[in-house]
Amino acid sequence: MKVIIVKNYEEMSMTAAAMINAQVRENPESVLGLATGGTPERTYELVIETNEKSHTDFTNVKTFNLDEYIGIPKTHPLSYYTYMNEKLFSHININKANTHLPSGEGDIKANGIKYDEDIKKAGGIDLQILGIGENAHIAFNEPGTSENSTTGEVKLTESTIKANSRYFDSIDLVPKTAISMGIASIMKAKKIILLASGANKANAIRATVEGTISELVPSSFLQKHPDVTIIVDEEAAKLLKQYRETAMCTVFK
Ligand code: F6R
Repeated sequence: MKVIIVKNYEEMSMTAAAMINAQVRENPESVLGLATGGTPERTYELVIETNEKSHTDFTNVKTFNLDEYIGIPKTHPLSYYTYMNEKLFSHININKANTHLPSGEGDIKANGIKYDEDIKKAGGIDLQILGIGENAHIAFNEPGTSENSTTGEVKLTESTIKANSRYFDSIDLVPKTAISMGIASIMKAKKIILLASGANKANAIRATVEGTISELVPSSFLQKHPDVTIIVDEEAAKLLKQYRETAMCTVFK
């Protein structure tokens, strides 16, 4: 895996937005895998700015999001469907029919199977954007998730529920389950970019990059993928040791 260490959240976001724009310019029919949460918010703002200024054309781009809560309707203000529409899709010239989120309503098992099939039918994900949990989850694949997992229902851990409670009026209102792309579904992406900012992600980043590959650290499976770039700020990278000294790591001061 390649690691790019930048100064701060803004520079992480600028780097990620530039990579998304480059992907779409190079292949205007790209299939993008997208994440929600605090980490990619600024990246999406910058993608919107470029879309306005230099008219990066999203007309024929398709998107597949990583996950969605179960237990709140997709129209809920805190659903990931709402997040994506408010933070990105409503502000770029994407065809909404080309945007996909797994559905947390109805038959979740069937939804998961269909979601993986739909990704396959679209030709697979060209560029997958990931955030990371403090417990090293990717999408909502919590520690203990099998490497062979596909899209389906997952139980959120206490630490994830606590982290996500910052958006809800009370922790009791945070859904306890979600539908998430599995590790195997994510690993099929042709190219993966993982973003992390802040000291609270430092342990997870060290375990992802320098740790042993294990179900206890779901993000560590990314070490097996042939094209992963981790874009981290100094705070999130502060526990990286040996990797900093390798040719696979670029540090921007
Ligand atoms: C979101 C997702 C999660 C988040 C992770 C980090 O779609 O799949 O894995 O990327 O929980 O969340 P933030 O960015 O809020 O710290």
